[in-house]
Amino acid sequence: MKVDVVIGLQWGDEGKGKIVDVLTPKYSVVARFQGGPNAGHTMEFDGKKFVLHTIPSGIFRDGTTNLIGNGVVVDPAILMGEVEKLNAAGVPTKGRILLSKKAHLILPTHRMLDAAQEAAKGGAKIGSTLKGIGPAYTDKIGRAGLRVGDVLHPDFEKKYDALKQKHLALLKQLSYPLNVEEEEQEEKKWKQSIDRLRAEFTIVDSEYEVNSLLKKGNILAEGAQGSMLDVDFGSYPFVTSSNTVCAGACTGLGVAPCKIGEVIGIFKAYCTRVGSGPFPTELHDEVGEEMRRQGCEFGSTTGRPRRCGWLDLVALKYSIMVSGATQLFMMKADVMDGFDSIKVAVGYKINGAATDRYPYEVDMPVEPIYREFKGWKQPISGSRTEKDLPQELMNYVKFIEEQTGVPVKFISVGPDREETVSR
Ligand code: GDP
Ligand code: IMO
Ligand code: MG
Repeated sequence: MKVDVVIGLQWGDEGKGKIVDVLTPKYSVVARFQGGPNAGHTMEFDGKKFVLHTIPSGIFRDGTTNLIGNGVVVDPAILMGEVEKLNAAGVPTKGRILLSKKAHLILPTHRMLDAAQEAAKGGAKIGSTLKGIGPAYTDKIGRAGLRVGDVLHPDFEKKYDALKQKHLALLKQLSYPLNVEEEEQEEKKWKQSIDRLRAEFTIVDSEYEVNSLLKKGNILAEGAQGSMLDVDFGSYPFVTSSNTVCAGACTGLGVAPCKIGEVIGIFKAYCTRVGSGPFPTELHDEVGEEMRRQGCEFGSTTGRPRRCGWLDLVALKYSIMVSGATQLFMMKADVMDGFDSIKVAVGYKINGAATDRYPYEVDMPVEPIYREFKGWKQPISGSRTEKDLPQELMNYVKFIEEQTGVPVKFISVGPDREETVSR
């Protein structure tokens, strides 16, 4: 049996949540392997909409085990908030979510450190979601972090206090305006959530669990963020703090590379980015505004407007190369329904020289070289098979396949679970 991996190939928010929900019936287990509550994964079905941050997107399908892997950073307060929302909507969670002992905990002071460190960066800020992701992974790599498994040990409070004191000293150095009353409130809620974590979750040695589940059925690994936000391969330092590429599934779950099956790369028919950092094909004009309007491009986690621009094949090919995507899923094609023409970047001009490589330097002025396609100028949300789709759209899809060498197996034509065309 294999682990198939869903990853974002752009700067996040490609529509991974929808795809994981659509694919879940084919799998017995859905597992998150990296990131944390910086993620916002949206699912729509039966006129309802849900956004998940930590819980895997397989939770809406009966009979699926959902696992939060060791590579994830978990904020117990946010996790419990998700549980409450799901339960209120009639979606059971008890006994359906396995949580890795080796996943790291996000403390309330990690969130404060995130805010303090961003503020200290001034104009060079990353545009973090401020969920404490960077500081939590810093403690993990610095071998100072608290892990989920620690909550089961009698010295947990002592360990928590020691780490909190270290954070408070750092916050003082950064002149963080600590509000003691607020801090106490946050801590109280966090500790209550830790108690619920012990009582309501199945805390497991997830690498053993994953490998034993893998003997019985295929697993779907759900990535968060996107390849261009990867801490090694993204537009550093404007990235997140985890490996968002396919390799992250191996280290974030404890599965061997030879166990990886399909690598499903998700991309939008255009591009978006939320937060700072280079975005070569970004549009600052009415066309970009129209993409934001039609695509409802506002962050699922923070509500921030997303920056919008044309599809960037230089970045897409780079992401495909690093993760070895075996199939592509194109999302939000319907957002382009009203466009007269559609552009796609096939190369960059840097200092007057053409290149098809994504540059190392993030502050380099990059001029995209575009290829233009005729728009289809008709609504496609009702399409369910390839023959329902306009020729102009298929020309665009075929060009992407030619350029990347990877088949586009799936075209999404709306946010709902049903609004899909499988090829
Ligand atoms: P994720 O983080 O990759 O799961 O993506 P998000 O949930 O942050 O953002 C994707 C947004 O696009 C959500 O609001 C989805 O409901 C929506 N969406 C997904 N697929 C489609 C599609 O094909 N068409 C349209 N119009 N919206 C889509
Ligand atoms: P999903 O899983 C889009 C971006 C932030 C910021 C940078 C670092 O929904 O696709 P962090 O909070 O990790 O310190 O932020 O990464 N970012 C995302 N952008 N989608 C996400 O997740 C993101 N998670 C983080 O905006 O630029
Ligand atoms: Mg998202």
